[in-house]
Amino acid sequence: SRTTVGVVGGGPAGLMLSHLLQRQGIESVVIDTRTRETIETTQRAGILEAGSVRLLTDTGVSDRVLRDGSRHEGIELRFGGEGHRIDFDALVGEAVWLYPQTDVFIDLADARERDGGTVHFGVTDPAVAGVISALPTMSFTDAAGQRHEVSCDYLVGADGSRSMCRGEVPDDVGVHHFREYPFAWFGIMTQAPMSAPELIYAHSPHGFALISQRSEVLQRMYFQCDPDEDPTAWSDERVWTELDRRTALEGFSLAKGPITEKVVLRFRSFVLEPMRHGNLFLAGDAAHTVPPTGAKGLNLALMDVKVLAEVLGRAVNDGETAALDEYSPRALERVWKAQHFSYWMSTMLHTLPGEFAAFDAARQVGELTSLVQSESGRRYLAEGYTGWPEHT
Ligand code: DHB
Repeated sequence: SRTTVGVVGGGPAGLMLSHLLQRQGIESVVIDTRTRETIETTQRAGILEAGSVRLLTDTGVSDRVLRDGSRHEGIELRFGGEGHRIDFDALVGEAVWLYPQTDVFIDLADARERDGGTVHFGVTDPAVAGVISALPTMSFTDAAGQRHEVSCDYLVGADGSRSMCRGEVPDDVGVHHFREYPFAWFGIMTQAPMSAPELIYAHSPHGFALISQRSEVLQRMYFQCDPDEDPTAWSDERVWTELDRRTALEGFSLAKGPITEKVVLRFRSFVLEPMRHGNLFLAGDAAHTVPPTGAKGLNLALMDVKVLAEVLGRAVNDGETAALDEYSPRALERVWKAQHFSYWMSTMLHTLPGEFAAFDAARQVGELTSLVQSESGRRYLAEGYTGWPEHT
């Protein structure tokens, strides 16, 4: 069969792209090896920039985020035995929304179904070929066992950090930037009430901790751990001891409940430049991975496909194929800002191992103190956290 854009990956990036293309009358076929259920139940990030929320609501995906999500006008930075509020609304007139990625996915998958989009979940043996030819192909076996070979004008790899599509870009083409960090996050879900109205990012002598939320009755929390930590080796009690001492503050106590999930998330930074090879375009985690501090990953993926949908629209509908050359440089400007923001938040808040650990810990308190005491410092954080304006 034949389509205009073949999309590998049915997560938020792939589905949002397919949605935005259909709004411009452009056909696409989306495939994912995972089932809808697997994607819906895999916990990912929880914070949407204001621009991501506008993309969901203004393009008619869903306005459920406005009803079921919650608007956060700030965060707390906790260090040196004190809490400091960063007031996004006062500083930059913006806010973020706590709305889990699983819900973003559900809204997008429902919208694709509602609008008659072609999305195959649970495919096997996916393959792409001819990415530098004029007519690449995407092949797969659908969930019913039928083999498909789809010829496409353009292929999009929105297939996550372990991208198959990225494998089509030869090692000597472009630059593969990579960085590892000497720490990871231990993440939990707990059936407990909220401990605070907003997220708490805590720097402590015992390491970093982040108190996030999912709902009135379900909370998400993380604490810095060793990248090789085994989550099954941790009892609930040991987890709470660690979280308690890292968030300790006069008059504060962490609300606790049964822990329903324990995972270790490794930190890495990755960027493939350019995000295009011939007629293959990479978007989201397939093109770049950021460390989780600051919750930029999902937001970047959505901004990538916003740009990609626009340039594909101009190429397909107006014959302006030169527009495709704009994709990578325009997307990468934001990618590198977010790459720095995530690196900065991570290295400012986590205990850094090594010979100079004591110096670094004291220096970080100095950095955090100058940040919260300076309106310019707080505004810099607020601009990055809520998402920079889009450049066109
Ligand atoms: C969450 C994750 C993040 O990386 C972050 O900075 C804030 C919140 C979350 O999963 O809720």
